[in-house]
Amino acid sequence: MEEKKRMLSGIQPSGELTLGSYLGAIRNWAERADEFDCYYFMADMHTITVRQTPADLRRRTITQLAAYIACGLDPEKNTLFIQSHVPQHAQLAWVLNCYTMFGELSRMTQFKAKSAQHAENINAGLFTYPALMAADILLYQADMVPVGEDQKQHCELTRDIAERFNGIYGDVFKIPEPYIPKVGARIMSLSTPTNKMSKSDTDPNGCVYLLDKPEVLARKFKRAVTDSEMSVRFDPVNKPGISNLMQIYSCATGRDYAAIEQEFAGQGYGTFKTAVGDAVIEMCRPIREETDRLLADKAYLQSVYTNGADKAASIANKTLRKVYKKVGFVQR
Ligand code: TRP
Repeated sequence: MEEKKRMLSGIQPSGELTLGSYLGAIRNWAERADEFDCYYFMADMHTITVRQTPADLRRRTITQLAAYIACGLDPEKNTLFIQSHVPQHAQLAWVLNCYTMFGELSRMTQFKAKSAQHAENINAGLFTYPALMAADILLYQADMVPVGEDQKQHCELTRDIAERFNGIYGDVFKIPEPYIPKVGARIMSLSTPTNKMSKSDTDPNGCVYLLDKPEVLARKFKRAVTDSEMSVRFDPVNKPGISNLMQIYSCATGRDYAAIEQEFAGQGYGTFKTAVGDAVIEMCRPIREETDRLLADKAYLQSVYTNGADKAASIANKTLRKVYKKVGFVQR
């Protein structure tokens, strides 16, 4: 039997999961489980490049795991784990730091953006973040890395690091492909629809969280920024707000843009926004309920992340041993 290709991705538990990360990422991951050998982790080690409140980080990491499962990532079919449980990530990251150039790291847009955002804490971890991300990916010899557009540069750097290392030591790492899904990949802010939906949005109504309560969801969609026209029409350049809502509605109901335009022809934006809110509420309800149910079962969640870390570590360790040997470390 031919081996399945390996897919790997991570999300930082630096905030609650957003509707954007569900529609743009997690929902698509769940459909890949039969075709690929899938690894998904909570990137808690990346999260501390920005100061966190320890209790919140712990709670969000567990909630994220529960939400992954509630979104359809079956732990029997996907390897779900917490990054800090697999020490090989930190170990390989150190080695890769020595094969990553200062100039390369200086050019990373995320580093530039985050150091502007956190000017009081431009720490070395924030700078070398991409070397840790490269380690995450290369440890598992991943074929495909599904990420958002904003992570493409990090994936390209990962390939460069892997090629550099392979160029010196022979074929140690598989060169991964970034995989940026076309549909639903870019859900925009509800308050500034020209920006990607993000948990760092300055307007609390701009970002929708997957686990928001129905009344919160309804309120956010009611306040969504639109335009001064009166037609529900898909035109991302001239009507970014309406087009974003249409995208969300389409993801939630499966209807295409033509059908949506027809459904709301001649109706005001108020009716449309309420309908989008209702559709999202119904889509999120079972996920939120299942997440809550899972969070009440700590023993189960613990068994999932323990098994996940065991499986991940056994693969990660093979790669790490090979790397240690190649660079000339004495074997224990
Ligand atoms: N940097 C990614 C983000 O902020 C998260 C991440 C960490 C990741 N390691 C990864 C994504 C490895 C894919 C593969 O979104």
